[in-house]
Amino acid sequence: MKKPEPINEEIELQNNIYIESDTDKKGVITYVNDYFAEISGYSKDELLGSPHNIVRHPDMPKILFKILWDRISRGENFHAAIKNMAKDGRYYWVFTDFEPLRDDKGDIIGYKAARKKISKHVTQLLDPLYKKLTEIEKESGMNESLNYLNNFLKERSQDITIDNLLENIHKLY
Ligand SMILES: Cc1cc2nc3c(=O)[nH]c(=O)nc-3n(C[C@H](O)[C@H](O)[C@H](O)COP(=O)(O)O)c2cc1C
Repeated sequence: MKKPEPINEEIELQNNIYIESDTDKKGVITYVNDYFAEISGYSKDELLGSPHNIVRHPDMPKILFKILWDRISRGENFHAAIKNMAKDGRYYWVFTDFEPLRDDKGDIIGYKAARKKISKHVTQLLDPLYKKLTEIEKESGMNESLNYLNNFLKERSQDITIDNLLENIHKLY
């Protein structure tokens, strides 16, 4: 499916309604709830069977998805602020919890994501960082953006990591 052109207009999310999806082990969507379809503007038919990058926003740095996949494929949970893009090109920021789905034997069979509205205060802090990382990736690749991210966090506080960034967001600036 052709990717829309991003437009600089935000979609307001409702409080307390989760945007949910499940994927197989490769990130192909196997389940979405009604709110996912409503906010993204894609029908469930368009979403099911598509890779999850169908809602990827070009402002999102690749390194964040690499870290996400490192964590969840090792069986760990992860959470992150994600900027997604709807079918009409508008964007919506979400606080997202990712977790592995397992079968009876404990083997990973896929992944689950639950997303909720995130405060504007947090997204305004993260937006410039994500844009900077994306710029670095275009010019110098993902190793460099990882270096920048690690230095950026270390300079601000010894105990902030990408895994606890959202809990420590007040220490960023
Ligand atoms: C359960 C689950 C949910 C995901 N949700 C999103 C999402 O909402 N937005 C997004 O851009 N990527 C999401 N991803 C990550 C995508 O699989 C993919 O890594 C990312 O969009 C980058 O895609 P690309 O490397 O093909 O550009 C999710 C992955 C999993 C496993």
